[in-house]
Order: sequence, then structure tokens, then C-alpha cells
Amino acid sequence: MSLIVALDSPDREFGSLVEDLCDIVDGFKLGLPLLMGRGVDYAARLRSRCNRGLWIADLKLADIGHVMKLTTSLVVEHVDAVIAHGFVGIQGALGELKEFLNSLGKKLVVVASMSHPGAREVYDKALPLILNVIGELEPWGIVAPATRPQVITSIRERLGDSVTILSPGVGAQGAEPGAAICAGADYEIVGRLITSSNDPRAAALAVKDAQKQRLQAC
Ligand code: XMP
Repeated sequence: MSLIVALDSPDREFGSLVEDLCDIVDGFKLGLPLLMGRGVDYAARLRSRCNRGLWIADLKLADIGHVMKLTTSLVVEHVDAVIAHGFVGIQGALGELKEFLNSLGKKLVVVASMSHPGAREVYDKALPLILNVIGELEPWGIVAPATRPQVITSIRERLGDSVTILSPGVGAQGAEPGAAICAGADYEIVGRLITSSNDPRAAALAVKDAQKQRLQAC
């Protein structure tokens, strides 16, 4: 099963958790609070505890290309992929960022929709336009909400198999492990359900088990 663990808390030492989960998860997503609170060098220190899997900087970039590249350049050497919003468009923005990341052999992940309830207010309405951007830009991956699996299914139908879909929203935000993968996602991103547990390794193994069981039924 495909599981990426979100590390967000700025005041938490995640080194031993990363080491503990290294052999059973598929990667780690570093959130802005963590990167701003601990500094970008912390990404390198964490990665030295687990140099396998996919490491993602969740910068949620939404700016002109020049500034997105400047922001990305601060952390990109320590990660494999960077997340940016899709609504900023290609020209002068995501197109430049993708070219920059390509030149470094890194991956671009674009947010197609979000997992929180407020995503219905704007994001869902803009989804067809954002999917036009993604279809033309052809990023390596996109983010789509585990909390609304029907959105994942419609995105998968529209974009086909070539794009990698990463889905947050499992656990703390309500989606059950495996639901997003059943709907067409490649990875589920899980944060607090694992990181807030007294036994993160047992929690991650339980998520993987639940994913497996869910997949057998979908
Ligand atoms: P929890 O603790 O809720 O953490 O499992 C979820 C992680 O995923 C991020 N997140 C999102 N990122 N689009 C995104 O690009 C979304 O819809 C979305 N929902 C949650 C969140 O920042 C946290 O790191």
C-alpha cells in the first residue's frame, strides 16, 4: 500500500519517528510550519535518518514564477518534490516552476482540489479550469482530497493514468484509509493519525492494514 506521512508540527522532534517508520512507509511530506519553525536544514537532518522513499516539501506555492523559484531553491536540494497551487496558471508561474524543477531532476506536484469543507466554496467550482492547467502543464503529480473520493475518481477519469495522485485527508479530517486509493489515488497522505499516536509505527501499520482490507472490497 502507498502511504506518505505528513510532518507538520514546528515544535516536535521527528527524527526518531522518521527512523522508526522508514522501512514501512513510502515517504514523508514536510509542512510549512515545520520548515518555517525548524528551518530548511531540518529537512536535511530528517532525511539523513531515512534516505529512502519520496520526500516532499509542501510549500503550497501560489505566486509568480520568479518568487516560487526563489522559495523552492531554499529547500529543494533536500527533497524530491515540491507542492504548488494550480490556480496560479502556467504562464509566468507554474510553467517556470516546472522548468526549474525539471532542470534539477525534481518533481512538481500541483494541488487540484483540497480536503477541507471550504474547498466546495471555490476550489470545486474552479476544478475544471485547474484541470485544464494540469492537463497542459503535465506535472508529475497532483493533490486531490481523500475526503471527497468522487473528486479523485473524476480527476483520474479526466487525466488518465500518467499522473500520480496524492490524497490527504485520511484520519484527522475524516477519510478512511484506503478510500482514496479505491477511488484512484496512488498515495494517501496521513499526518496526525500517525504522528499524534503514542506508537506511530503501530499506527502506520494499522493504516496499511486498513488500506489493504479496503482495497480488497473496492
Ligand atoms: P492530517 O494531520 O490532517 O494532515 O492527516 C494532512 C496533511 O496534508 C495536508 N493537506 C493538504 N494538502 N491539499 C493539500 O495540498 C489538501 O487538500 C490538503 N489537506 C490536507 C496538510 O497540510 C497536512 O500536512
